[in-house]
Amino acid sequence: MSSYNLITLNEFISTRQANFPYAKGELTRLLHYIGLAAKIVNKKVNKAGLVDILGEAGNTNVQGEDQKKLDVFADIEFIKALKASGECCGIASEENDEIITFDDELARDGNYIVCIDPLDGSSNIDVNVSIGTIFSIYRRKSKRGEKAQLMDFLQPGKDQVAAGYIIYGSSTMLVYTTGNGVNGFTLDTAIGEFCLSHPDIKTPDKGKIYSINEGNYPHFPDGVKKYIKYCQEINGESNRPYTSRYIGSLVADFHRNLLKGGIYIYPETAKDKRGKLRLLYECNPIAYIAEQAGGKATDGYKRIMEVDPESLHQRIPFYTGSKEMVDTVEDFLK
Ligand code: AHG
Ligand code: MN
Ligand code: MN
Repeated sequence: MSSYNLITLNEFISTRQANFPYAKGELTRLLHYIGLAAKIVNKKVNKAGLVDILGEAGNTNVQGEDQKKLDVFADIEFIKALKASGECCGIASEENDEIITFDDELARDGNYIVCIDPLDGSSNIDVNVSIGTIFSIYRRKSKRGEKAQLMDFLQPGKDQVAAGYIIYGSSTMLVYTTGNGVNGFTLDTAIGEFCLSHPDIKTPDKGKIYSINEGNYPHFPDGVKKYIKYCQEINGESNRPYTSRYIGSLVADFHRNLLKGGIYIYPETAKDKRGKLRLLYECNPIAYIAEQAGGKATDGYKRIMEVDPESLHQRIPFYTGSKEMVDTVEDFLK
């Protein structure tokens, strides 16, 4: 195919915008800037082995985890891009304890807030394994022209206007939804553009892959233990109907299962009753994409996107992927 036949991300989002008669291009601009920052972060990720940006940055984030240098770089880059877009009045990031609000007039007038995990799967940076960025966009609740407030961020996932992720893998992809299906774009590094490669992604209703950190097995709820056994053997027959895959980057694990069919589970454990993953910038955006692709996302009992957030860095058990597989594990949890 000639490069001129490609549909670029920018072209795609502006064509989509034209389908909404009242859209003023604000969301289009915001997504455009996210795409820009993704390209800059991608460049740095690709170079990570070459220059001295590997390893810890020496700070500890709000979760008590060591921040890697690339975490910090990605955080700064996305914040700069979102601010420059003029459409974003505030950001909640995994890397910052509090919300970030902007003082300048342009950004204060922005109609949107963004929740972001700038670098997901950061334990994989040093070893050349796929990592990602996850983002979630809401319309603000507070008045335009004023500083963003905490209430702008504590909205249930069902009120998201857009969500997506970037996967920095063997190729780099941006996958997003605005509530009208899910579309995936692959970065063509020759021309520096994200090009539509996976239009209207639909996830299979059932798959063969289950993804869970089985190192935590002793601490899992009984229902999850039973489900894992069920995946390993059916009716006492160990004919391996299912297969286990776990990268340790939510974005990469989810992306694989989205395309192939499968389930991703990060359950509550005896130690962490609320699980590990963060509701605002990990689970809600992934849940929105899962549902838009025909899949499902719950905390084992309740739809993730109906949970009313109480705090910025709140954690929640996460079960997502092919619908029938999530249904089955939910039955085991009952
Ligand atoms: P982050 O790197 O943004 O802190 O996220 C790590 C998350 C997620 O990406 C991954 O699925 C999960 O932590 C892995 O946790 P375990 O190492 O406990 O399995
Ligand atoms: Mn993460
Ligand atoms: Mn992260």
